[in-house]
Amino acid sequence: MRREHLLPTVDDTRALGAALADVVAPGDLVVLTGPLGAGKTALTQGLGAALGVGEPVTSPTFVIARVHRGGRLPLVHVDAYRLGSVADVDDLDLDASTEESVTVVEWGAGLVERLADEHLEVRLDRRDDDVRTAVLVPHGAGWEARLGG
Ligand SMILES: Nc1ncnc2c1ncn2[C@@H]1O[C@H](COP(=O)(O)OP(=O)(O)OP(=O)(O)O)[C@@H](O)[C@H]1O
Ligand SMILES: [Mg+2]
Repeated sequence: MRREHLLPTVDDTRALGAALADVVAPGDLVVLTGPLGAGKTALTQGLGAALGVGEPVTSPTFVIARVHRGGRLPLVHVDAYRLGSVADVDDLDLDASTEESVTVVEWGAGLVERLADEHLEVRLDRRDDDVRTAVLVPHGAGWEARLGG
């Protein structure tokens, strides 16, 4: 999978999320970074749709986390914006364990990486011309291998 992506439209961002659906496995942690409006939720929407979850993915800002079921894997979508720390996503008492799910965290950089042995970081950014960019950064040999050279 290519590491660097130019995302002119929101559909491009969703398509990148959809492409990730082909590589995620149970227990995965995906950390999304980038400023307000960079497309973190849009990318998660594409991932959820491609996993086949049964409902639209919306921003979990006011609920901290949501579980979307009905797809190939449960999708746990966390917004850590208001969290000072995340001891353990399983402490959020969701009716899904992170072991069986793919967990996607917005605003979790520096908070959640240690919850898993490895994780995929997706660095989203917003250029002055409003085009979004994404860089996939594997952390760990497993993710390195899965993304390929
Ligand atoms: N190329 C693009 N990729 C993603 N979103 C885009 C793009 N172009 C325009 N947009 C718009 O920008 C907004 C991105 O919102 P989104 O909620 O995905 O961002 P976010 O990073 O999750 O923000 P927040 O930090 O508030 O959670 C949407 O309204 C979307 O339609
Ligand atoms: Mg968001």
